[in-house]
Amino acid sequence: MMQLRPVHMKIAVVGGTGHCGRGFILHWSREHDIIIGSRKAEKAEKYSEEIMGYLGDHGVKAEVAGMDNESAIASSDLVVLAVPYRFVESVTKDLEESYSDQIVISLIVPMSRVEDHFEYTPPPQGSAAVLVKDLLPSTVKNVSAFHTISYTVFQDLDRTLSGDVVICGDDMASKEVVADLVRDIKNLRTLDGGPLKMAAQVEGLTPLLLNISRLNNIKDAGISVIEG
Ligand SMILES: NC(=O)c1ccc[n+]([C@@H]2O[C@H](COP(=O)([O-])OP(=O)(O)OC[C@H]3O[C@@H](n4cnc5c(N)ncnc54)[C@H](OP(=O)(O)O)[C@@H]3O)[C@@H](O)[C@H]2O)c1
Repeated sequence: MMQLRPVHMKIAVVGGTGHCGRGFILHWSREHDIIIGSRKAEKAEKYSEEIMGYLGDHGVKAEVAGMDNESAIASSDLVVLAVPYRFVESVTKDLEESYSDQIVISLIVPMSRVEDHFEYTPPPQGSAAVLVKDLLPSTVKNVSAFHTISYTVFQDLDRTLSGDVVICGDDMASKEVVADLVRDIKNLRTLDGGPLKMAAQVEGLTPLLLNISRLNNIKDAGISVIEG
């Protein structure tokens, strides 16, 4: 049976004080309870004040909480992992006890700068998404998404976002929950990208987009799939 999404979800944004994390807070706080996760609770609390001020200036009245990562994860139904690849273990395996049966979205991209361009440098597991799955308890539902939108636009409510969000995962009900959350964001389309092992293909699009942006002077590049 299809799992119905709760109307209000409790969403922990781990790395919520960073570039990408901010976008999730801004776009989902209208409809959901957002908890900003940080290594330091005081940093998250201070950031939540700032972000509520920004939301208020944009006509959005929302309560956003700030907590340490452990408490944020333990209090949530869904976790967004928005930290750089090199910190993946510190927000999964090291905080294992905070996880129970949440849906966990990974937008993490393992990539390196090589001379003048970026290359996708996945771990032996094949992708960050599969590594995250291996590091978390088996009760968690892993989904990979949000690799191909422009985060410059995502974190600015004065700009118009567009593009496709490709979702990969092995649990259809969790993918549908994430697809609904994408639909909550104006102008974004959601596409099913297949099982979690296909996340490698999508993660690899991020360095491609960064290289395309630089080499072709295209600002804030994203991906939209066209119908032929
Ligand atoms: N930028 C893009 O266009 C883009 C596109 C697709 C995917 N992504 C992926 O999105 C993820 C987040 O990128 P970002 O640019 O938002 O990252 P970021 O701003 O550099 O960092 C996000 C947060 O990570 C936390 N952090 C720093 N050191 C840490 C540590 N040792 N352990 C745990 N957390 C630590 C910090 O939060 P606290 O100090 O509060 O703990 C920081 O605010 C990356 O994996 C990236 O590959 C980015």
